[in-house]
Amino acid sequence: MATHTITVFGGTGFLGRAIVRELVEAGHRVRVAARHPVRPGWVEAGDAVELVRADIRDAEDTAAALDGASGVVNAVSLYVESRDVRFRDIHVDAAGQLARLAQVAGVEHLIHVSGIGADPRSRSAYVRARAAGEAAVIEAFARATILRPSVLFGPGDAFLGALARLARLPVIPLFGRGETRLQPVHVVDVARAVDRLLGSHPPHQRLFELGGLEVLRYREILGQVLAHLECERPLVPVPFLLWHALALLAAPLPNPPLTRDQVFLMAQDNVASADLGGFATLDILPRSLRDSLPACLAHLETGTP
Ligand SMILES: NC(=O)c1ccc[n+]([C@@H]2O[C@H](COP(=O)([O-])OP(=O)(O)OC[C@H]3O[C@@H](n4cnc5c(N)ncnc54)[C@H](OP(=O)(O)O)[C@@H]3O)[C@@H](O)[C@H]2O)c1
Repeated sequence: MATHTITVFGGTGFLGRAIVRELVEAGHRVRVAARHPVRPGWVEAGDAVELVRADIRDAEDTAAALDGASGVVNAVSLYVESRDVRFRDIHVDAAGQLARLAQVAGVEHLIHVSGIGADPRSRSAYVRARAAGEAAVIEAFARATILRPSVLFGPGDAFLGALARLARLPVIPLFGRGETRLQPVHVVDVARAVDRLLGSHPPHQRLFELGGLEVLRYREILGQVLAHLECERPLVPVPFLLWHALALLAAPLPNPPLTRDQVFLMAQDNVASADLGGFATLDILPRSLRDSLPACLAHLETGTP
């Protein structure tokens, strides 16, 4: 029986969709808050899913989306800045405002999704904003839980999808020598973590880093994808300086295929710390990337979107 209303900001995004589904299946009433909310295709009559149009930057929208909620998840993203919206607007100012409004509204649980590597001293504006956002959230809502996932994968993801598309090239350029260590995590495992954290006996930790079953170098992940696609390609090291130059050249484009922040991210290991909360704390065994590849890449092989 549905007992609590949980508002999921960004509930139409890649992670948000998985969280909404997990929470509905666990018996929560879920309010999906986004600028363009869409009812998920799997929703059946009787499922407790409500849609709310809300821009997280707007205080009135945000307060309305929180009305009567006992929990809130912030899974709003901004990966590329534009003239109209900067990293600070979404990841710091709006996240802090949501936390303040949640505190005023008497919301019990606030889960703020950030990312591994959040660092106020980073050269990347994106990574600095993630760190400042975490601080703004904690300042306004001291009991908030911060979730930092590593790179997400799952059916229809951006990560494996992009790697699979590289297989169309005759040679595949690597970021540096492809040695960066990542810990790709299945989107459903992160959604399960959110469900656990909203349960009646959440762990005392407030900061979680969620990495998948294996730590893999970028070139190993690419190798697994190519092997799954039964495709052999030479992997060519490309210095990060050259990637930065390419990102600078691409910057004026309306939808740049690569940004300097993405290059910075690809230069930095993205592995969960053993000293913080993690899947083990939540009693969740995350899935393996290799085992999940067929399901994750099936839509590309069949040509479905
Ligand atoms: N994907 C990854 O590999 C990854 C890895 C680590 C951490 N994360 C973090 O996980 C979170 C979710 O990422 P994601 O990849 O699932 O994002 P996503 O697929 O790009 O989805 C973004 C969501 O945010 C909503 N949104 C964007 N701007 C908004 C605004 N101004 N007001 C309200 N809603 C807004 C979007 O809906 P509308 O456009 O309709 O508003 C959408 O629902 C982010 O914090 C991200 O940094 C992701």
